[in-house]
Amino acid sequence: MLQRFCLYSEFLINMRNITYNAFVVEELNGKFTQTIQTLTTNNLPVGDILIRVHYSSINYKDALSATGNKGVTKKYPHTPGIDAAGVVEFSENAAYKIGDEVIVTGYDLGMNTSGGFGQYIRVPAEWVIKLPVGLTLKESMIIGTAGFTAGISLLRLHDLVKPADGKIIVTGATGGVGSVALMLLSMLGYQTVAVSGKESEYEFLRHLGAHEIISREEFQNEDKRPMLSAKYAGAIDTVGGPILENILKTLNPLGAVTTCGSVSSTELNMTVFPFILRGISLIGISAQNYPLALRQSLWEKLAKEWKPDNLFDIYSEISLNELKSRIDLILEGKLKGRTIINMTNDI
Ligand SMILES: NC(=O)c1ccc[n+]([C@@H]2O[C@H](COP(=O)([O-])OP(=O)(O)OC[C@H]3O[C@@H](n4cnc5c(N)ncnc54)[C@H](OP(=O)(O)O)[C@@H]3O)[C@@H](O)[C@H]2O)c1
Repeated sequence: MLQRFCLYSEFLINMRNITYNAFVVEELNGKFTQTIQTLTTNNLPVGDILIRVHYSSINYKDALSATGNKGVTKKYPHTPGIDAAGVVEFSENAAYKIGDEVIVTGYDLGMNTSGGFGQYIRVPAEWVIKLPVGLTLKESMIIGTAGFTAGISLLRLHDLVKPADGKIIVTGATGGVGSVALMLLSMLGYQTVAVSGKESEYEFLRHLGAHEIISREEFQNEDKRPMLSAKYAGAIDTVGGPILENILKTLNPLGAVTTCGSVSSTELNMTVFPFILRGISLIGISAQNYPLALRQSLWEKLAKEWKPDNLFDIYSEISLNELKSRIDLILEGKLKGRTIINMTNDI
């Protein structure tokens, strides 16, 4: 009887309406505004797990959601943030208990479900990963969706291309996915070629392990020929468009390239010749719906044997108040490495 009473009081305590701060995007007459607002947990969507967010991070998709891209977020007002790491505050699922440190990345978080740019999220248990031993909450968000995507890309690429096969290109190299991809490839012994638009960051790229650097301007020259001299064993591409076309035309026989992003363009204008004459592969990457079992094992890998030594060299930490200016920077292609948001201040 006493035990049931205690459980019931715990339930009531945890169902209390908690006030918190969030970055909220509102739509008025087709224009989008972003402000920090005070919200309450009663307004969060239904879900098994209430999480007090300690850190979030900025990904390109968040910038699209924050500026009214209806392909990402259909309804506003909305709190973006596809990444969140924090502590379970209430759980209706036996696998998670109060105080557990957890990560949520992808699925619908921050798209049409209130996301990690709020100090609380409520999500289905199937979206939640227990923080692996070997990572702190902060480190998990330095990796975040961008680093996790670099991890999936490397897993898939490694099936087809080994370090001895030749050089690997990384595009959007100073960006979130690109910078983690460079570190991981270098750790695994690959020779890397970074393609970047930021001449001022070449030293940063060398520090992450880039063996060669090619300017974006030079690499994106359009050449109408269906194939070019073969030079590279593989690539992790984050930008698409003419850069991806040039990679595909210059891959060695049986080479492979992963594609995850379209910062440059969603178009691909080329022939099938490199595919059918050189037997190359184009591998699509989707982190959002990466299956839970694979997701758990990749996070374990990123916490242990694939944990980059220089993780703390690629991040900057901001507060919610600084988020808007960083969103403008990522849209301009000017953000470097990973930006995490400390959500523990100012409730
Ligand atoms: N499919 C998935 O599951 C998945 C997951 C995560 C991210 N993504 C996508 O992957 C892409 C990269 O994400 P991210 O988080 O790394 O973004 P990010 O941090 O903004 O990095 C993108 C980088 O691309 C380069 N860039 C910017 N504008 C460009 C242009 N017009 N043409 C060519 N390169 C340009 C810049 O690097 P340099 O200055 O060094 O060239 C920039 O830092 C985005 O499209 C994102 O939506 C997809």
